Amino acid sequence: MKVFVFNGPNLGRLGKREPSVYGSTTHDDLAALCVQTGEELGVEVEVRQTDHEGEMVGWLHEAADGGHPVVLNAGAWTHYSIAVRDAAAQLSAPLIELHISNVHKREAFRHHSVLSDIATAVIAGLGVDGYPLALRWLAAHPG
Ligand code: DQA
Repeated sequence: MKVFVFNGPNLGRLGKREPSVYGSTTHDDLAALCVQTGEELGVEVEVRQTDHEGEMVGWLHEAADGGHPVVLNAGAWTHYSIAVRDAAAQLSAPLIELHISNVHKREAFRHHSVLSDIATAVIAGLGVDGYPLALRWLAAHPG
């Protein structure tokens, strides 16, 4: 099984970006954590980050065509991108929507997600620890 972890805008700046909200782990550290978790689970994990919506849409098409599960932190797109939603809706394998912060404790505009009703599950507020948890669940439910 191959699992994609897709991170959207501003997540490449993890570690520098609002550390009181998102913590001190860098995106490189997060990617290494995901790959290492995959090795422990016997699952191939590929982590990508983009600030470009069209690139994310293309990656979701690739995951849909390959039948791969996705852990998706769509960042701000979560709250308004119908293009990302429509691409994610084409996945046949599980989709885990993930947020490092607890979006429901934050500004009202972060409370709505255009992804949650098409996601298999949502993880929010566990910091970067949410990623290995999502990968463990996917490995235990290969479909
Ligand atoms: C986020 C929460 C979003 O509201 C925000 O725009 C992000 C990151 C999170 O991981 O907590 O960029 O998805």
